[in-house]
Amino acid sequence: MHLIVLPAEAAGSPAGTPPGKMASTLLPTLLPPVSRAAAFLLRTPPKPFRYHHSLFRSLLASASSPSTSPTPRALVTMACAAIPTRRDLLMLGIETSCDDTAAAVVRGDGEILSQAIASQSDLLVKWGGVAPKMAEEAHALAIDQVVQKALDDANVSESDLSAVAVTIGPGLSLCLRVGVHKARKIAKVFGLPIVGVHHMEAHALVSRLVNKDLDYPFLALLISGGHNLLVLAQNLGEYVQLGTTIDDAIGEAYDKSARWLGLDIQKGGGPALEELALEGDPNSINFTVPMRQHKDCNFSYAGLKTPVRLAIESRNLCTDDIPISSATEEDRQLRANIAASFQRIAVLHLEDRCQRAVEWALKMRPSIKNFVVSGGVASNQYVRTRLNHIAEKNGLQLVSPPPSLCTDNGVMIAWTGIEHFVPGRFEDPPPADEPDDMQVT
Ligand code: KG4
Ligand code: ZN
Repeated sequence: MHLIVLPAEAAGSPAGTPPGKMASTLLPTLLPPVSRAAAFLLRTPPKPFRYHHSLFRSLLASASSPSTSPTPRALVTMACAAIPTRRDLLMLGIETSCDDTAAAVVRGDGEILSQAIASQSDLLVKWGGVAPKMAEEAHALAIDQVVQKALDDANVSESDLSAVAVTIGPGLSLCLRVGVHKARKIAKVFGLPIVGVHHMEAHALVSRLVNKDLDYPFLALLISGGHNLLVLAQNLGEYVQLGTTIDDAIGEAYDKSARWLGLDIQKGGGPALEELALEGDPNSINFTVPMRQHKDCNFSYAGLKTPVRLAIESRNLCTDDIPISSATEEDRQLRANIAASFQRIAVLHLEDRCQRAVEWALKMRPSIKNFVVSGGVASNQYVRTRLNHIAEKNGLQLVSPPPSLCTDNGVMIAWTGIEHFVPGRFEDPPPADEPDDMQVT
């Protein structure tokens, strides 16, 4: 426990001030680094907070008994001792923005206590993509179990938590709602603050969990199924967007191409295409790198999908009827060549835009040391290797989370919740009379 000992006189606190009041009135003057989060946790909580509220309660008990009344200095010391350190925080993170129902419990120092995930891969295969209504139902079926598993595996209960973090966007609103309802329900019953998390910010910030030295400012490329973003992260919550996609994201192009190639997309289109591409010749087909004439940092992947479709059709590959597992050797090789050529060009497009973004970012903030690459597509080994070259060429360090933290997960939500909770960016618990099915926007 982090102890701050200050003489009571320094705060000018009159002896005998009720500790609850003292804690709240002294906090701003006595302990400037104490965040709103600590202040929240120091208020009498609706439920005991296992780590620090035991101290808080002993402070209350001793202050109310005249024979054992502590001195003002002791009171301050104890009040300070009761302030949770960052390590004491326990955050539950809930993610339901797309096709995975995920939850995790993460400690304030970044230790991952648990993570649970229910994937909708069967639905993906059946519907050929994410069907919002089906996805919502699947989330609704899975959410209680997934959250319970995360709590059980972390060996904690809801009353041990400091707060609940939940993805509030971007994503499919029907799906987001399932996670938000669950988070609000827990927060209401256990009197916990809520942190609303931006999904793409979480993809970026989870890099700070895996690399504790990663400080602002840094450049981030976020590549997922729905987004392609190049951002200069100046500080927590301060991002300058350098580029975005003008149509499809790279993950969407991987997914569509994988389906057209007749791949087994049970584990996702991107991973399936990456695997097949290893068998192909990346220079066999000359797809055009998108947007080379546009000297900016935006992306376009819609224009790369059509040539892939045409390449399949012109080679008379019956990919609709014959899955890759039943393809002849020659057919398989052709498909692998298309996959490898697609991947080379798709990633060259990333490289072009990242090189320019690095130049722009370094002009704006010459102190940048790190280039973060995250989001589902960043779990691709070819993508990581090529972007590592860009980083090295420009004297930057590539920071990319392990693949399991690149694709959607609850850890990134919990961690981003912690990042915002510490400086006091959270919502108070919902009122006790809030209906469980309240419409949230
Ligand atoms: O971040 P994410 O898990 O979910 C969204 O926020 O969209 O990203 C999912 C995307 C999907 O398009 C998936 O095919 C792609 O990331 N992806 C990959 C790989 N693993 C996942 N793309 C290429 N190679 C991979 N190994
Ligand atoms: Zn994502």
